Amino acid sequence: MRLTILCYICVIAELGITLNVSLNEQVIGLKNLVRKLPNHVFPTCHVVLVADLANFTSAENRCKRLPAMLSRTNKAGTLATVNSKEANDFLTLLFNAALPKHKQHRNTFAGTRWVWTGLRKTKKINQKHIRKVENRKPYNAEDWQWYDGSSPKDFENWNRGQPDQRPLKMGKKSSDYKHSGICKERLCRQNQMRLNHEGMWDDAFSFEEHPFACDYQGKYIVSAEMKTWEEAKAACEAAGLQLATVRNLDETDQLRRALIFFLGESGFDNCKGAFGNGKDYEHGVGQFNCVKVKRKKRWDPIHWAWTGGNDLKKEGDYRWTDGTVVLFEGFPWIANAGDNNGSKRKAKGQNSLTISKWGEFDDSYGHDKKPFACECYR
Ligand SMILES: *[C@@H]1O[C@H](CO)[C@@H](O)[C@H](O)[C@H]1NC(C)=O
Ligand SMILES: *[C@@H]1O[C@H](CO)[C@@H](O)[C@H](O)[C@H]1NC(C)=O
Ligand SMILES: *[C@@H]1O[C@H](CO)[C@@H](O)[C@H](O)[C@H]1NC(C)=O
Repeated sequence: MRLTILCYICVIAELGITLNVSLNEQVIGLKNLVRKLPNHVFPTCHVVLVADLANFTSAENRCKRLPAMLSRTNKAGTLATVNSKEANDFLTLLFNAALPKHKQHRNTFAGTRWVWTGLRKTKKINQKHIRKVENRKPYNAEDWQWYDGSSPKDFENWNRGQPDQRPLKMGKKSSDYKHSGICKERLCRQNQMRLNHEGMWDDAFSFEEHPFACDYQGKYIVSAEMKTWEEAKAACEAAGLQLATVRNLDETDQLRRALIFFLGESGFDNCKGAFGNGKDYEHGVGQFNCVKVKRKKRWDPIHWAWTGGNDLKKEGDYRWTDGTVVLFEGFPWIANAGDNNGSKRKAKGQNSLTISKWGEFDDSYGHDKKPFACECYR
């Protein structure tokens, strides 16, 4: 695949912003943001690629849990829907960035040469296998489904001769690759789809173990890289994102969850008085009643992340990077962000807004290095 030919200009009509980042650059930018994430997790605004090996059922279950961890939705997550050329190209690029082909085992059927997607056969799943290709019934797209219920009618990218629906008897290995899986049922069927480094599809047995891609339903991607506010802004933009905006308490909570997901717990996220106890947070009147926590630890930069809020243009006039006004009403400001009127946060020099893992906002010096939160364009 020629990666260089894929150039997309993301026009964000809603915000009137045009980002001139090619898809390939975006994937590289994203990879840089999440270098420190454990378990080989590569989140983007569309999909999260998890580079751990998992069978189809286990991958499905792990995708289910993602939205609750990343945002507040109770909706179960699903394996990724890749129902257009753009989505297929994007996942292919991401897969190549996360697990470069030349670094994987040379056998075509090695686990890391494929990634699970959310396409599986939902109709005629026990169809009799006809050995002779010329006698087989033609492939019917309607028998296969993405999790949104659609079938691959408008877009499909099956490898030549696939899906061949070759079954496997109990005790047999699926391929000549030494670590390939073994069928543990009376008869195993290739009713799941996997995608390779060229973006081509293959029907596969559910017991195979591959990396997997889940649809992403959050708003934020948080980076553990320590950067100044300006560097953070540039790093978000290099990945086709912008520094996070937070427009209400619901988004504050979503971002807080994303912070914990991407950066890990602070160890005192559930302290009394931390975010969640709204009445402690009148405008500029926060309380942090966590006796267990030493003051110094609370201010450890690893617990705080840059957002896009800043008053760089005009002292005291806080704006998000898209120019919209930061609304302070009902915001969980920390007690000392000002003199309890919020006025100190207009102090010169502290021009950039940070948010803590427990959901408090503070103004801070932009030259300090901290993790940072990027936002997906909506
Ligand atoms: C993107 O490119 C266009 C044309 O090349 C230019 O007019 C525009 O200012 C650029 N936008 C950004 C955000 O750099
Ligand atoms: C899939 O993996 C899970 C967890 O490792 C395991 O419990 C389950 O038996 C596996 N299923 C198949 C079909 O291999
Ligand atoms: C704080 O707010 C009160 C009431 O609005 C006001 O009287 C006082 O001057 C304010 N203090 C500062 C330092 O802005």
